[in-house]
Formats: sequence, C-alpha cells, structure tokens
Amino acid sequence: MTKHQTLYTCQSCGGVHSKWAGQCPACGQWNTLVQESFSAPPGGLKAEPAKLSRMNKLQFETLDSTDEIPARMVTGIDEFDRVCGGGVVPGSAILIAGDPGVGKSTLLLQVAANAASRNLRVGYISGEEAVEQIRGRANRMGLSKAPVDLAAETSLRTIMDALKREKFDLVIIDSIQTLWSDAIEAAQGSVSQVRACAGELVRLAKKHNTSVIMVGHVTKEGQIAGPRVVEHMVDAVLSFEGERGYPFRILRGTKNRFGATDEIGVFEMGDAGLREVPNPSALFLGDGHERASGSAVFAGIEGSRPVLVEVQALVAPSAYGTPRRAVVGWDSGRLAMILAVLEARCGVGFGQKDVYLNVAGGLRINEPAADLCAALALVSALTDTPLPRDCVVFGEISLSGDVRTVSRGEGRLKEAAKLGFNSAIAAPVAIDNPPVKVKGFTSLADAIAALFPVGE
Ligand code: TYD
Ligand code: MG
Repeated sequence: MTKHQTLYTCQSCGGVHSKWAGQCPACGQWNTLVQESFSAPPGGLKAEPAKLSRMNKLQFETLDSTDEIPARMVTGIDEFDRVCGGGVVPGSAILIAGDPGVGKSTLLLQVAANAASRNLRVGYISGEEAVEQIRGRANRMGLSKAPVDLAAETSLRTIMDALKREKFDLVIIDSIQTLWSDAIEAAQGSVSQVRACAGELVRLAKKHNTSVIMVGHVTKEGQIAGPRVVEHMVDAVLSFEGERGYPFRILRGTKNRFGATDEIGVFEMGDAGLREVPNPSALFLGDGHERASGSAVFAGIEGSRPVLVEVQALVAPSAYGTPRRAVVGWDSGRLAMILAVLEARCGVGFGQKDVYLNVAGGLRINEPAADLCAALALVSALTDTPLPRDCVVFGEISLSGDVRTVSRGEGRLKEAAKLGFNSAIAAPVAIDNPPVKVKGFTSLADAIAALFPVGE
C-alpha cells in the first residue's frame, strides 16, 4: 500500500523538511514552508543494500565514444540558436525563465514556427492560453502557415501520453507552472508539482529524443519559485530579460551543458513579434555620437560578440542625510568599489552627493572590463566635463587604482572602428596597428588627470 507522508516544502529553495518552521532551515527565507504530502513507495525508499547491489550492477564506460554526435536542430532564429550553443541539442531539456509579460510565449511561438518550417516536427502545448488566442497571435505575427501542432492542456498525464505517441522533434511547454500531475497532492504551481512535472518531461526528452523547451515564470517576490528547482534538472537555462519601457529583450544563457553561457541574443519587440537584432551595438549607443558629460561608451564583449554600450552617470547634491547610490544594469557592489577607489586612490570624492549609474538600452553588464568606463563616466558627471567625442573606454580597475588589461582588446577596438569611433581609453594594448588610436593608462589617477580638470 502507498504510504502518505506529510512534509513541508520551501517554496523558495525547494528544500523538504519533516517539521514546519517559520524560517526555512536551508535557505533562511521566512514563511516559505508549505505542507505537501508525498506518496512514498511501499516499504519506503530504503532498499536492502546487498539486494540493491545485486540488482543494479554499475557499469563503467570509457570517455572515448564511437557514436556520432547528433546534429543540432537549427531553428532558424539565429539569436536563439547561438545562445543555445548553435541550435537545440536533440533530446535536451531547456528552461526559458523570465518575468511575466517579457515575451517568452512570443519568442517560443516564433521558434516553434521557424523550426516547423524547417521540416522539424514541432508541438506547442500551452497551459496558459487557449488555442484561439495563440492562433490569433500567430496570425498577427504572420506565422499561421507554419505546420506547428498546437494544443491547450495542463494535465501532465494527457500531455505525456500525447508526447509518447506523437514523437516530436521539439516540444514547447508554456508554462511549467500551469501543469499538474495527478500523482502529487499539491497545488498547481507549487514546488512539488513543478518539480514532478519537470522531472517527467526531462525523462521523456532523454528517452524519446524529443527536445523539450519549458517556460518558467519567475516572480520578484519568489512566491512561485518552481523554476529554481527546475534549473538543476534541465540541460540549459536561458533567461529572457528586458527592462520595462524598452523594446529590447535579451536572451542570456545562465546554464548550458552543451555550450557557453556568456552568449546573449538580442531582440526587439514590435507589432509583429520579436525582431532579431544581429548588430546590437547601434542599439545601446543612444542617439548619435554627441556626448554629454557623464556619458561614456563601453566597448564590451557579450559572449562571442563585441557590443558597444553607453554608460551614463549622474551626480547630484543629496537632499537627504545619506546620499543615494543607485545603479541600473550594473552591479551595485562594483559601483561602491569604484567610488571607494576614486576617493582613496585618485582623491576624487563624491561625499554627500547622490550618484546614479545607468547602462543604456536596458542591457546588463557583468564584465569587470566596464570598471574604467564607469569610473570615467562618474568623474565626467562630477566635473561636468564631457569625455572626448568618438571615444570608447574599457579596462578593469584594481583596488590599488591600477588599470588592468582585459581580454579580447582587439575585438573591442575593431567594433569601435566599425561604428565610427576613432579612439579608445584603456590599459596600454600591445597590438600592432590598432584599428583605432589607443590612449593607454596604467593607473586610474593618470587617466583622470589627463582627461579632467580635477583638483583645481
Ligand atoms: P508574451 O509573449 O505573452 O509574454 P510572456 O509569455 O513572457 O508572459 O508577450 C507579452 C507582451 O508582448 C505583451 O505585453 C504584448 C507584447 N507583444 C508585442 O508588443 N508585440 C507582439 O507582436 C506580441 C505577440 C506581443
Ligand atoms: Mg506567456
């Protein structure tokens, strides 16, 4: 007989505990433990070790394989394929995570339609929208002729039966939170349901060589934290991001068992769905090359591509006792570090002033190579002195105030030259005939002294 056991699952981290507590002992979040019952197999999970070892003898294999690696499925949406590592690996499970309304369904409908038009067998199962709604969207996006098999369903059992029968190359599940398994006594969207449904789908992907792309909503409050649990199960996690008010959407790999995770795909949301942006630099540069004070252009690298992006700083007198430090698109800890280095190593203090730093276009920069650009934008804002026109900036700053060389300098300079910039401020580069003139600095203090009228 199946034994029912009451356990408490943390809705934030997915940790399972035998007792209720106000705070999750695993992740420290408050009020996240929810009672859920699990069905344990008869006799519990413990099998006799001796019996078990006789039953399952572990077979070791060599690293070397003679099997041919199956070709990736190219969907034809280049920005998506690149982030996946050159197409979707057959039999893989991918999670697309993002805030509600960012455009996940739109992206995946386009991926499904494009893949289907390339003779792949594609299924699109929505638990969120009715078939009519999806058809309407496909119509507006000009995709209604694509041979996608469309269904609206939330029961995992019905979906699994269909997937076993139909043998799709690619299946889209929108979204994992809407599915429910009748084997689990927990509410739809709860961690146990999401974990069980995702687990089943991942197993199906491997067994039937059907690639499964699951949509997962993440909420800022962490109320439905299902996708966090799913992250460990799937082969790749792609997060789809976009700042409210901007049309740009960025697909970023945060985990990928089959490719690099630093690639980004850039899209622009329009009336007819998402448009790919193969050359994103122009998009993140603001208007023209006329630079106001506080603005600097960072020559960054996103994955395999160089991307130029405008970094804007504003320094204003503070109206409150504690000055504000606000940053959008960059790490606030990094901003604090740069401000400290400016103060301690270069004698440039921001004292009682509010400091704002913003990365244009809704992009998020993770590279330390942006340090020098942020520092110069801040000093430019403080002194109200624009940086030289047509100039890009890159370089890492150490706590000692040194400017460090960063990787792929040549690629950054080439992109700058391509977009009409004619000089760069960076650590000295050892490149013969650089594509643009490089003003090399080894210390931040030297760079500031050469560019700004500080200390007057
Ligand atoms: P959607 O894909 O439904 O988001 P998600 O699945 O991530 O919740 O898209 C949501 C937004 O995208 C919606 O507010 C409207 C906008 N949108 C467009 O601007 N143009 C379009 O062609 C489509 C289909 C959607
Ligand atoms: Mg949706």
